[in-house]
Amino acid sequence: MNKIETKLAKAGDEILDEAAELLKSGGIAAIPTETVYGLAANAYNVEAVRSVFRAKGRPQDNPLILHISSTEMLYDIAERVEPLALTLAEAFWSGPLTMIFPRKKHVPAETCGGLDTAAVRMPRNRFTLALIEKCGFPLAAPSANTSGLPSPTSAAHVYEDMNGKIPLIIDGGECRYGVESTVVCIENSDTVRILRPGAVTPEMLREYCHVVIDSGVLEKLDAGAKVLSPGMKYKHYSPKAEVYIVKGTDNSISSFLNSHGVNKTGFLGFGSEDPADCVISFPYGKTAEEQAENLFSSLREADAAGCSEVYVRMPDTAGMGLAVYNRLLRSAGFRIIDTEK
Ligand code: TXA
Ligand code: MG
Repeated sequence: MNKIETKLAKAGDEILDEAAELLKSGGIAAIPTETVYGLAANAYNVEAVRSVFRAKGRPQDNPLILHISSTEMLYDIAERVEPLALTLAEAFWSGPLTMIFPRKKHVPAETCGGLDTAAVRMPRNRFTLALIEKCGFPLAAPSANTSGLPSPTSAAHVYEDMNGKIPLIIDGGECRYGVESTVVCIENSDTVRILRPGAVTPEMLREYCHVVIDSGVLEKLDAGAKVLSPGMKYKHYSPKAEVYIVKGTDNSISSFLNSHGVNKTGFLGFGSEDPADCVISFPYGKTAEEQAENLFSSLREADAAGCSEVYVRMPDTAGMGLAVYNRLLRSAGFRIIDTEK
């Protein structure tokens, strides 16, 4: 791919028109959201969508999420909207919930990875909502990282991966949540299935309906297995370093690190452990919210520090912890070390 000049601009009225013109003419741009940064294109423009796949190096069968700014836009995409989907939209939009709908014929198959469904969400970011409205079409936007790397939670992360590949990055500051949206499909009139956990937790969804957690959320899928959410089958969220999950108490983890740590071993813990001096610590927080916010940026920091292996302390899986653990399992290729054994 030829190198192009990448402009970094602060989110605001000054850049709104320019960004909308770029997207209207089939260009692509990185945009801020409350979860992670997205790499946006006109969801209805096949050529623009292809540029997104190319810039990320993303497999063609991994569908994109369509970002909308109004429920009218949802009706332009979805062939059918179940009452439960409307209830959840009212409860959680704008916000980190993505729902899957049967798609109308005019929504390009390329945008949806060849599936006859489309994933839709309304992001909670003032600039991005204004941008979508100005464009007048939904923005297809996967996370703005190179495919396989940790998702970007700041404009600087996007720049690391996309400099020279895209014309515009809009800097809206650090993302509030730090992990991607919860992806659900409507299973029946009173049940949803979580395909990817996020900041809208199973506990929060249970206020409105039954919740099934898809086996792909916490289990390794067999090669060739049919998956409801194609994104789940790829190695994901992985820095260059080899990642391992470590399980145990403060003490057992400290003694594991003291005996296994070598020069430039990285460690993401809760901050309460006492690792050997050779270990470089990137504490990722005590609460699930802090851990979600910091996980991807800490993994990127470990790479920047030159760590060749990184141990990450196993998070609690309640609430948003399920999303943290789901991402971590994939970045560690499901490798878990029990330090109490
Ligand atoms: O928070 C987010 O969702 C971010 C921001 C930018 O909005 N976007 C994001 O996109 O995480 P991406 O492309 O990295 O992940 C989209 C996920 C993938 O796991 C994909 O397989 C799934 O959503 N997905 C998209 N369309 C789908 C569909 N029609 N059926 C099932 N899964 C779908
Ligand atoms: Mg992604």
